[in-house]
Amino acid sequence: MKETEASRTAVLVCQGRAVGDGRLASGRFADPVAAQLLRDDERAEVELARSGKAPSGWRARMRYEMLNATAAVLVTRTVAIDDAVREAGNPQLVLLGAGLDARAWRMPELAAVAVFEVDHPASQGDKRERAEGLEPVPKSLTYVPVDFGRDSLGAALAAAGHDPAAPTTWIWEGVLPYLTSAQVESTLAVVAERSAVGSRLVATYPVHNRVAVLGRRALRVYSRLTGGKDPLEHERHISAWTAEQMDALLAGYGLTVTADRDLHDIVRELSIPARESRFYGLGRVAIADR
Ligand SMILES: C[S@@+](CC[C@H](N)C(=O)[O-])C[C@H]1O[C@@H](n2cnc3c(N)ncnc32)[C@H](O)[C@@H]1O
Repeated sequence: MKETEASRTAVLVCQGRAVGDGRLASGRFADPVAAQLLRDDERAEVELARSGKAPSGWRARMRYEMLNATAAVLVTRTVAIDDAVREAGNPQLVLLGAGLDARAWRMPELAAVAVFEVDHPASQGDKRERAEGLEPVPKSLTYVPVDFGRDSLGAALAAAGHDPAAPTTWIWEGVLPYLTSAQVESTLAVVAERSAVGSRLVATYPVHNRVAVLGRRALRVYSRLTGGKDPLEHERHISAWTAEQMDALLAGYGLTVTADRDLHDIVRELSIPARESRFYGLGRVAIADR
């Protein structure tokens, strides 16, 4: 990531959740806070995508399609992760690369939980501005600014009051693609070190997918043509795994994969119309327990 600029992908995925709220997987997914975390121009795009009326101009039409495809991906992975968080019921929750995640404002199940939001300092500063005035649900919400490429995650969590003797649920959602393998390994080392028995890691990760590579290229071309900013400009996809590779990677840190699902299967279960999102690339979600 760029040193000073807040994550653009965090905004895009937040827009996806706002587009999906009340429209996709009703009864299993709701994120009314997502729209509140968006700036006016970002929310206007969401409203257009939610209208169900595809605009006629090709630029607006492309943005409309992209946001609807993003919504399908985001709603799917949110449902899978929320279920895993509830099932674990741990007293601590650490969001690694929290972005504009709204769990701390929308999940009543977190009322007795100590939540730690870890993110790149620039993205976190932006999030804190956006969340001003919103009332968090958890027992405590602590912001932990960390650049995974530069800072010590373990020291930052210790200073923030994270307790390694109590079980933690770790969410690593939509972050793995942007990390180098050294950053992935050093983060996992800290997760392993600070995971008491009963802890759980929930991670979404991309698989090698030529179609998704094309999708990301299309996003770049589209951004150039429309004069907009490429959300992936400073956050290139650099990593991908197979399910077997992920299992072996996590096992190396004492974490046993108890479930690893293709998000396409969950899309079908939730009856989400997601034809376009195959192009965008869904990936998998792994749940690993200590
Ligand atoms: C696609 S966003 C996902 C945000 C959030 N987890 C979600 O799903 O809504 C990627 C997140 O990874 C964070 N990130 C990427 N590289 C990072 C780094 N080197 N150090 C800290 N955070 C990083 C960004 O700041 C951003 O919040």
